[in-house]
Amino acid sequence: MIKKGIILSGGLGTRMSPLTKAVNKQLLPIYDKPLIYYPLSILLLSKIKNILIIVNKGQVDQYKKLLPDGKRLGIKIEYKEQASPKGLPDAFILGEKFIGKDNVALILGDNFFYGQNLTNTLIECCNLKKGAKILLHKVSKPEQYGVAKIDRNKKVIKIQEKPKKNISDLAITGLYFFDNKVINYSKKLKPSKRGEIEITDLLNIYRTKKLLKSDFIGRGGAWLDTGSIEDFYKTSAFVSAIENRQGFKIACLEEIALNNKWINKNHIKKAIKFYGNCIYSKYLSKLLV
Ligand code: G1P
Repeated sequence: MIKKGIILSGGLGTRMSPLTKAVNKQLLPIYDKPLIYYPLSILLLSKIKNILIIVNKGQVDQYKKLLPDGKRLGIKIEYKEQASPKGLPDAFILGEKFIGKDNVALILGDNFFYGQNLTNTLIECCNLKKGAKILLHKVSKPEQYGVAKIDRNKKVIKIQEKPKKNISDLAITGLYFFDNKVINYSKKLKPSKRGEIEITDLLNIYRTKKLLKSDFIGRGGAWLDTGSIEDFYKTSAFVSAIENRQGFKIACLEEIALNNKWINKNHIKKAIKFYGNCIYSKYLSKLLV
């Protein structure tokens, strides 16, 4: 069972400068809430209550204003600063103490997931006892991502980071599930040509040991990018379209925590006070009736 999760929320966000000069990218809005709410909601939907958020040096206070220690959501949030981006597996080295002897999930702070059957898939992934599991999604521009080639039995046979030649159109999304060996394997990785340790190299260790499983976010689900300013607007438009059509909010953390029975209606009242007079609070007040 996976009960701990890390959100890697660092990065300089240089592609979005000047927006990211003073504010961390994950605190910028996707429609009506900060981007960090979306990956955090994915961990809550996975029933993960112990969360480590890795942020850039000097930015913990920005995050704590928004998400202090998690008590408001019935969870526990810890923070760790990253001096400079060293690659995704660095999350497991920085998070060694937090992970302890447990298995762990990692989600990238800028990944957006949405879909009908997503919660079931997440819970199934969290049953992982040994090895690693990745979630794949078909994309039209695989050269921008880590990709996985699978055989007829959905076994991963090849993994490559941003391949120049098309080997598969299945991108490896930024949500990963690992056993505890991930800490030691991460420490053994050597930096790639771009000077970072790569998640694909880490996954290849599991693949060669025949311990890498995969599942799909099918065509009914969405996995969206928030790497550029254009992506921010597109993802915002997606959230706005769904929320305004249905009247439900995507990634309302308090609603998920309430549904998980981690908090009660008093917590919701406190959250309304915390947010003040805004649309988000109006939505929360509907949960009280
Ligand atoms: C990273 C990973 C890549 C993965 C992607 C998902 O890419 O290296 O394998 O497919 O996240 O968002 P990066 O954001 O570093 O380009």
